[in-house]
Amino acid sequence: MPEVTVDGVRINYRDSGGPGAACLLLHAFPLDSEMWEPQFESLGERFRLIAPDFQGFGQSDVVEDRSTYSMDTFAAQAKGALDDAGVSTVVVAGLSMGGYAAFAFWRSYRDTVAGLVLADTRAEADAPENIEKRTSQQEAVGEKGPGALTDGLLGALLSESTRTKKPEVVEQVRNFMDNPAAGYIGALEAMKTRPDSVADLATINVPTLVIVGENDAITPAELSRMLHEHIAGSTLNVIPEVGHLSNLEEPEAFSAALSGFLSAS
Ligand code: MLT
Repeated sequence: MPEVTVDGVRINYRDSGGPGAACLLLHAFPLDSEMWEPQFESLGERFRLIAPDFQGFGQSDVVEDRSTYSMDTFAAQAKGALDDAGVSTVVVAGLSMGGYAAFAFWRSYRDTVAGLVLADTRAEADAPENIEKRTSQQEAVGEKGPGALTDGLLGALLSESTRTKKPEVVEQVRNFMDNPAAGYIGALEAMKTRPDSVADLATINVPTLVIVGENDAITPAELSRMLHEHIAGSTLNVIPEVGHLSNLEEPEAFSAALSGFLSAS
């Protein structure tokens, strides 16, 4: 897999090399670019899918200093991957934490953005109680390792329907969550210190698709309705019976929505 060094950090990325529109896929927490496997399989030969591993995740460098993790760092690493791949115009698609990074990407590199896909995400910064929860999670990972969060996160990330009817998806997500403790702690730091992006919504003047699982427990569907209402001309796609990881829980529905959007880009 290709890699590029951004500000001294080695960033791994996947590049499907397809001939169609380019799409940057930004991963959720605590997963990595592997989470986009279903989309690479179904769409990679038609479109140019590029998916970086943020620092601390997948095969990118593990950076121990949590203060270096931020949405701006992640956006710069994604831009570094695009530059390395020779792509200058791209649809930016982020799921959850990837969506937070997509807002940072929009703020810094909007001239390269042909469209946005905001999946299972929110524009608001963390509320104080959420910051406290993330601090406790950082302590737990510091003491016991990432496994301290696995079962709780699996319960929150996937809908009840997925957990009961699709055990293979539960196992897949459990495997995808296998990332280093430093990545967990760093990404939690980046999420709890991320800025509010609500004011940016009115500046978005590119085609935008908002996708959300009907039963998303982490970024509930009403937050996506809010994104849709505040982003002029955007489209909202609610995927039934699905939780937070919509691209893995219903890959066909997610890929069909993404494919339709990319075909029109
Ligand atoms: C994610 O899926 O990226 C995270 O759960 C988002 C969050 O905790 O805010």
